[in-house]
Formats: sequence, C-alpha cells, structure tokens
Amino acid sequence: MSDHRLTRIVQELPATVPFVGPETIARFSGVPIQARLGANESVFGPSPLAIAAMQEAAAEAWMYGDPEAYALRTALAKVHGVERENIVVGVGIDGLFGTAVRLFVEPGTPVVSSLGAYPTFAFHVAASGGVLHTVPYRDDYEDVEALAAMANTVDARLVYLANPDNPMGTCWDAATVLKLRDALPADAILVLDEAYCEFAPASAIPVIDIADARMLRFRTFSKAHGLAGARVGYVIGPAELIAAFDRVRDHFGVGRVAQEAALASLRDAEHVEAVVRSVAAARTEITKIAEANGLSVIDSSANFVAVDCGHDGDYARRVLAELGALGVFVRMPGVPPLDRCIRISAGTAEQLVVLAQALPRAL
Ligand SMILES: Cc1ncc(COP(=O)(O)O)c(C=O)c1O
Repeated sequence: MSDHRLTRIVQELPATVPFVGPETIARFSGVPIQARLGANESVFGPSPLAIAAMQEAAAEAWMYGDPEAYALRTALAKVHGVERENIVVGVGIDGLFGTAVRLFVEPGTPVVSSLGAYPTFAFHVAASGGVLHTVPYRDDYEDVEALAAMANTVDARLVYLANPDNPMGTCWDAATVLKLRDALPADAILVLDEAYCEFAPASAIPVIDIADARMLRFRTFSKAHGLAGARVGYVIGPAELIAAFDRVRDHFGVGRVAQEAALASLRDAEHVEAVVRSVAAARTEITKIAEANGLSVIDSSANFVAVDCGHDGDYARRVLAELGALGVFVRMPGVPPLDRCIRISAGTAEQLVVLAQALPRAL
C-alpha cells in the first residue's frame, strides 16, 4: 500500500491478516459449516454459571467494564496464589500480545520465534517494526535449543514459545521451558503462551514465580473455559512488568459482560474439568478416524489434533479444501514440513460423525 499518510512501517506491511475467519470462508464458498473444527474453540461451551452471569450482565452493558478488572484480577490472583498486582487482564492473549509488543519492541528490536508458530505474536511484532528471527521446528516440536541459540545470536528482547504448541499440539515439560528461559540473553523475556495449559499434563506447567522477571505467562478464557467469543485473557508476571501494561493498554477493552463471564467461570472448576475430559475423548476419536483412513496423528496436549496426511503441503491443502467443500471447517499449519498436516479441533460426538463421513471422501 503506498498511501504516504500511513506510517512507513504500515506502508510496508503485507495486506495479510493472521486468520481468515470461518464466517468469511463460508461467505466466500457459499458452503454452510456443519462441523466447526478449525479454530480450537471449545465446542463444549461455557460454564452454565458463565452463561447466567452474562445474561444478568447484559442489561448492564450500557456501563463500561471496570477498567481495572478488579474483581476478576482478585479471583485470578487467588486461583494462582499471587497478588492482584501480578495480573493484567486484556482482550484475549491476542490483544495482550499487541500490548506486550508495544512495551518491548520498537523498530529494529530483535525478536525470536519458531517458523510456523501461532501467528498473532509475529503479526504484532511486524506492526511495531521489530525484526523477527525464526528457527524451524524439530520433529514437530518447537526447538527450544535452536530458539535459545538464535536468541543469543541476535540478542533477542522477546522470545516466543507456546506450550502446548499450536499448530502441532506438542508440549515440553516444565524443566525444559525453564531451561530455555535460563539460556536466553540476560535482558530477554520469554513470552510463554499457555493458551492450552489446562489440557496439558501438570508436569508441563512451570510453577508460577512472580519474582521471575524473565518470563511472562499468557493465559486465556478462550479454550478450556469456552469463552473465545467473550475475549478475555490475562498475563501473570512480576508486579513492575505487569504495571507497565497500564501505560499502553486499552483500559476499557474487556467489557462488563466478558468480565462477569470469566469471573463466573472461575467458580466452576468442575466445568473446566469436564471440558478437559471431553477434549481427551475427542482427541482419541479424531485419532481413530484418522487411523481408519490410513493417516497418523501427532500426539497432542491441546484441544486439537494435527493429522499427518502423509504427503506434502499441496496434498494437505487439497484435503483441507475438500473437507471445506463438505462443510467441515479445519485449518492447517502454514509452512513445510508442518503443512503435511491438517489440524482438527476437538468436536462433539455429532461433529466427529460428520468428520468421519467427510474425511474418506476428501481423501
Ligand atoms: C497458541 C495460542 N495462543 C493464543 C491464542 C488466542 O487466544 P485468545 O483467544 O485469548 O486471544 C490461540 C488461539 O487459537 C492460540 O492457539
């Protein structure tokens, strides 16, 4: 785009967005979605307590939400055994990435991530003029040693790791995550994206240490809590770094209804546990469906399964398109060799029946 009124950074940005939404895809194709299995949402829905809280809050939507999200931060602090000052709430992890990048990245700032990693972080880095250095995955895992080596080579300020990872669903144990943190340059911060942490083994989640100024933990209500459409996420970290978010964040970004939903959901641990069980069952079923069609899967610690279509990216893209034409919305990784896979989110039993019928036809 060459409009000289735009900043130079924006003029040079590609016209791409990280995600084309399922609604857009359906509008373009004219095919209604029968099985929405592509965005790693929770098809199992929010807690009934959260639904009731949203209904009650709906009549109060004329008021802005509490800009300090005081009640929600208080509840989160209790859940995590930290102080309210250790938590900032924002518009999902995606929104909080934007805020974090504004805090630490200016034109030329070196940042490190994996090639093919969850894209929103890189999207914000590009918008700030940061210089993104990537390393390839190794055996479908984010390569923590290569991330550390690259971070030291370029003297990175931020290093991104999703654990469990999206798009592959693989997961490192906590000791490996901490080893990565310790191997980074002294001034670097590990941006630890734990969007899927509820689905991972407890051994994958480092103990929260708010004295640790080298790591920020990004969490969300979009996955296990089933509130992707409400847009609530949070960051846990040392009070000084968390306070810095206040200087640049969108203070009214998380609306009143969303705050009430998240607060109520925190009171329903049983719902989250049930979702985690349903997701595990769905992963098993997706694996069965894949194997019945001669395909293999990558072992997943998240609410989706990467299914290896056994050929190259062009082949997997064709499978994806055929599934789309049959009303099954799934996504796939963007770069080789990850793009030999399609990524299927945990679905209800009915949705997985639709998948089981569509997959052999698509293949
Ligand atoms: C790794 C990862 N991080 C963050 C997000 C987005 O989270 P939120 O809905 O809180 O913005 C996703 C969503 O798919 C994800 O896969």
